[in-house]
Amino acid sequence: MIIAIDGPAASGKGTLAKRLAQHYRLPHLDTGLLYRGVGRAVLDAGYALADEAAAREAASRLAVDALDEERLRGPEMGEAASVVAAFPAVRALLLDVQRRFAAQPGGAVLDGRDIGTVIAPGADAKIFVTASPEERARRRHLELNRRGEPIAYDEVLADIRRRDERDAGRGTAPLKAADDAALLDTTSLDIEAAFRAALALVEQARKKTA
Ligand code: DC
Repeated sequence: MIIAIDGPAASGKGTLAKRLAQHYRLPHLDTGLLYRGVGRAVLDAGYALADEAAAREAASRLAVDALDEERLRGPEMGEAASVVAAFPAVRALLLDVQRRFAAQPGGAVLDGRDIGTVIAPGADAKIFVTASPEERARRRHLELNRRGEPIAYDEVLADIRRRDERDAGRGTAPLKAADDAALLDTTSLDIEAAFRAALALVEQARKKTA
């Protein structure tokens, strides 16, 4: 079974994907990490994020199995990832590895922006996770404060809006729900309620394809 989870930054899609993968004992790929890895490599090599050739080079050399999640997690890397992810050549270079992951025997859970539309259009279950920008900013702000990274709520909200706009506005594989995806709005749900809702959607989709 392939489960495709898409949605905007800080919607909770990563946590839901992880929980679903645990529940069904499936391998999980957080595809945002790939773009974060490319952004990091561009900066580490001393290039500007807007340098398309440098981003292409970084994507072609990305060591997918050796991504340092701790180092890639911060909000600056989310922004960097969003910039390099807008280059079609970068997306093309990362396509195969994601499709292979999805196609492994037994299936997989992938989360990102274009899983249901581009990476695994034939997925058995597709969920598009949303929440209002204010609620996503509130969650992200809380998380950053807990990690000891002082940042103003307004700054987090502005970052989220900017990222939504860039991810949804790009020409290649923009952030958008697949026509056959189920929408899950987590604005007023805590993580347990969101997980139960996601599970119910997967079970529903499973019955349909069985
Ligand atoms: O899910 P995330 O916040 O780690 O993703 C970081 C950025 O990477 C996101 O703003 C856009 C890009 N991305 C993408 O374009 N396609 C994906 N499948 C996953 C992430």
